[in-house]
Amino acid sequence: MEYSSHIGNSKLPKVETTIFTTVGNLARKYNAIDLSQGFPNFEADRTLMSLVNDAMQHGHNQYAPMQGYYGLREVISEKIEQLHVHCYSPEREITITVGATQAIFTAITAFIHKGDEVIVIKPAYDCYEPAIRLNGGIPVYLQLNAPDYKIDWHLFRQKLTDKTKMVIINTPHNPSGTILSKRDMEQLEAILKPTNVILLSDEVYEHIIFDGADHESASRFPGLANRTFVCASFGKTFHVTGWKMGYCAAPESLMAEFRKVHQFAVFCVDHPVQCAMATYLKNASHYLGLNDFYQKKRDFFLDGIKSSKFKYKPSQGTYFQLLQYTPLTKERDEVLAERLIIENGLASIPISSFNVANRNDYMLRFCFAKKKETLEKAAEILCNLN
Ligand SMILES: Cc1ncc(COP(=O)(O)O)c(C=O)c1O
Repeated sequence: MEYSSHIGNSKLPKVETTIFTTVGNLARKYNAIDLSQGFPNFEADRTLMSLVNDAMQHGHNQYAPMQGYYGLREVISEKIEQLHVHCYSPEREITITVGATQAIFTAITAFIHKGDEVIVIKPAYDCYEPAIRLNGGIPVYLQLNAPDYKIDWHLFRQKLTDKTKMVIINTPHNPSGTILSKRDMEQLEAILKPTNVILLSDEVYEHIIFDGADHESASRFPGLANRTFVCASFGKTFHVTGWKMGYCAAPESLMAEFRKVHQFAVFCVDHPVQCAMATYLKNASHYLGLNDFYQKKRDFFLDGIKSSKFKYKPSQGTYFQLLQYTPLTKERDEVLAERLIIENGLASIPISSFNVANRNDYMLRFCFAKKKETLEKAAEILCNLN
């Protein structure tokens, strides 16, 4: 039998190359300044790198425990308790994962059965839906509207049915750069109270939040914490996305099921990096200083594009800034994104790819986790467009 005859059975027939790969390839081909992908183009802290080296030199080179290096789980537990006044047991309620992506995939796989509904708030990061579909689940969308991308909790409530098994939220939010407020979280808590719905809270940008706002982690709200998988990413927090390390925190009963999947999908995560993270995280300034660090980058970028024709609301969190281009052109966003790369040498991400049915919001997403000179060049290009 020909191999191609099996391909007809694809479990993800509608999944194509992601927008990130498509734009990234085009950006490389045209040698464009790349503000498309969500990673820094500056170095991580040398101290953190030395700590990984130390861990390797001290023999932490074999399998780590399945749940993760204990010292790391312990320091994560202390950190969450300090920031959000909720205590997760390092033994039973925290697992170290291959980035937030694996935490999200594993939580979905552990709980979603055929026919279960999962509420996904759009625009949404792209790893949620394939994981739901691979497990036979049905994504149920709540599409937010530009330019505020605020959740209407009344509409949200209408999406809940007796088939709803899980809800996925993401704060600070990629791609919109909005955050969920205390009031939002309280409304979510009240809506979910009479249900058994599991919450998956993607908080990978927890330490990138601006203008004095607080990160309202689901772990702060008792009626949410008791049903939530909080997913976090050291890659995002410490400028080392290539290390692919994160963690998941959840109540014991949920985490026990999570670990049943985790131990056979991954078993355990890079040991020396976990040891290094355990030491590095003990110094709170390594993550508490990030709000300020990235706020300066956001402000530098926005100051640079002051004289451009783009419209925007300053990002409230994440290292992404949305720019609305209606004063410039009425083209679709993916057309403009492609043209910007080819004609102007600047790469960004069209937001339609995150929306239901690729709705066009006339928005492009720019990543400002970049060196000053990169942001300067990008801003100059944006100002010269007309
Ligand atoms: C909202 C969101 N969640 C999860 C991830 C994945 O994080 P990680 O690289 O730790 O797997 C990303 C990465 O861009 C993201 O933006």
